[in-house]
Amino acid sequence: MSKVNRFDVITIFPDYLAPLNLSLIGRAIDAGLIEIGIHDLRDQTSDVHGSVDDTPYGGGAGMVMSPEPWGKAIDAVAELAPGVEHELIVLTPAGEKLTQDLAIELTSSKHLIFACGRYEGIDVRVSDYYANASGFKVREVSIGDYVLGGGEVATLVIMEAIIRLLPGVIGNPSSLDEESHTLRDGDDSLVEYPNYTKPKEWRGLSVPDVLLSGNHGEIAKWRLEQAKSRTNNRPK
Ligand code: ADE
Repeated sequence: MSKVNRFDVITIFPDYLAPLNLSLIGRAIDAGLIEIGIHDLRDQTSDVHGSVDDTPYGGGAGMVMSPEPWGKAIDAVAELAPGVEHELIVLTPAGEKLTQDLAIELTSSKHLIFACGRYEGIDVRVSDYYANASGFKVREVSIGDYVLGGGEVATLVIMEAIIRLLPGVIGNPSSLDEESHTLRDGDDSLVEYPNYTKPKEWRGLSVPDVLLSGNHGEIAKWRLEQAKSRTNNRPK
């Protein structure tokens, strides 16, 4: 299966994406595992003010992002990954909810383009146009049922969820098998069991005896029980 190798982010706040140079993702870039481009939407405007928004047709509060700069920006970044399908991710609280399964699915995309809307969002004709354009696939994605100031933070969340799954990004890939939402009990995904490290006693709290027993069967059984109970008791 082909894996992601290029990510492009279009935003009016390129500095918001600076954390992509740190830690896991920064190392993945340095190792040549992925390429990331951050693009200022205002570079695609022609007026002196760099206007990217206008009042909504039909009236109402707020401003809507104009389609023309978005079309130009998306066409330009598509040229950075020629010959592959471009998957356009439009960040909106109205989109499909991000889950671990969606993150896994997106690892198969060769070129992901993140469109970070602000204000009342992007004129919907941008999504409609690219959904029918050859060589593009469009998804509207939300990171949860709350409203952020824009799609930048949502993009950071989604990119981190995808990139850490790519081959070579995490030193010990088996740790990916034992984490929340990857652990399974039949068809149900579970959150992770609790973890402990040294010292054995800390502020009067001790490590459960089973974890010190060296009995791997019993440890696995205890962890599964703990994961099930944490999953069932988690506030919805
Ligand atoms: N933009 C504003 N709120 C958002 C959310 N919850 N998810 C994705 N993009 C957003």
